[in-house]
Amino acid sequence: SAAEKGGYDYFMLKEIAEQPKAVADTLLGRIDGSGSLTLDEVRIPPGVLREIDKIVVVACGTAFHAGMIAKYAIEHFTRIPCEVELASEFRYRDPILDAQTLVIAISQSGETMDTLMALRHAREQGSRVLAICNTNGSTIPRESDAVLYTHAGPEVAVASTKAFLTQLVACYLVALYLGQVRGTKWGDEIEAVVRDLSSIAGAVEQVLGTMEPVRELARSLAAKNTVLFLGRHVGYPVALEGALKLKELAYMHAEGFAAGELKHGPIALIEEDLPVVVVVPSPRGRSVLHDKVVSNIQEIRARGARTIVIAEEGDEAVVPYADHLIRIPVTPTLLQPMVATVPLQVFACELATARGNEVDQPRNLAKSVTVE
Ligand code: AGP
Repeated sequence: SAAEKGGYDYFMLKEIAEQPKAVADTLLGRIDGSGSLTLDEVRIPPGVLREIDKIVVVACGTAFHAGMIAKYAIEHFTRIPCEVELASEFRYRDPILDAQTLVIAISQSGETMDTLMALRHAREQGSRVLAICNTNGSTIPRESDAVLYTHAGPEVAVASTKAFLTQLVACYLVALYLGQVRGTKWGDEIEAVVRDLSSIAGAVEQVLGTMEPVRELARSLAAKNTVLFLGRHVGYPVALEGALKLKELAYMHAEGFAAGELKHGPIALIEEDLPVVVVVPSPRGRSVLHDKVVSNIQEIRARGARTIVIAEEGDEAVVPYADHLIRIPVTPTLLQPMVATVPLQVFACELATARGNEVDQPRNLAKSVTVE
């Protein structure tokens, strides 16, 4: 009913709008006044966590994209090698797992069969499993050693939005917590990131307030067949997520690429007026990557692409090459996906509407996939 949708036409729109609150709720009570993390729910003893020598993240779909971003944060803050694998591929290749492996299973519903089978396999090999989940008491957390709940509230639309942002928050928290427990790199940088995390809900709110031009752009592209997405570093999973959203909602051919791979093949796809969305890394810090992505934008534009550029406020280098420019607030590199994903959600939702598709219930899809 309309009341259930809080005045929005679709649950997806309501859930996109709820993201600042979902993010704030997921942080609530997990960072104390001194900036250290209190993840009491993670009932794996610190002694055990100190012995972990490998982390494997398993998940599907959008949760898998959160896992890809988690890898950057986990390796950066803990220096523990981290792999990310599609849950449906994981157990079939006889992965190397033992008691020193921590497996992190990410799932909104907690009922995804592929993810459940992956974690069962991991536990059979003696590994500890930490679930990141949005649904209290669902199967995946029940079968895990510990769970960190995301507090997104119920997500009804088939396309995941607020659950994704809260999965990212949970992943950052786990990475920082492991860094804290193990004493790796605990210090100024981690404290700064914890501070930035505390203000990220406000940044998401800010992005939401600037989405009208994105909706307009989406409507103007309703008759297109293909949209490509490019990103690098944590922007690469964001590109994959933007493409997934467009496939499931707009039923368009959409693909995400690592920007550095363009020259190894995908650039051959570029033709006159092809829309290409590019997520640009921050010009601060790892500015080498920023400059490389700006060159990519130049290259594809020279070949006729219509460039849709998502770049940080104040990044002037992109201006000459952007046919459409979407600004996002300045954030630390690892947190950029929190703000860069939002315009892609809005873009896909509006394109679906413009194409007359059912936004909350896309064809052929189920909210949780309980078969393998
Ligand atoms: C996301 O928009 C999708 N509908 C889908 O990829 C989803 O993220 C995936 O099926 C995993 O679901 P889960 O988080 O409930 O395990």
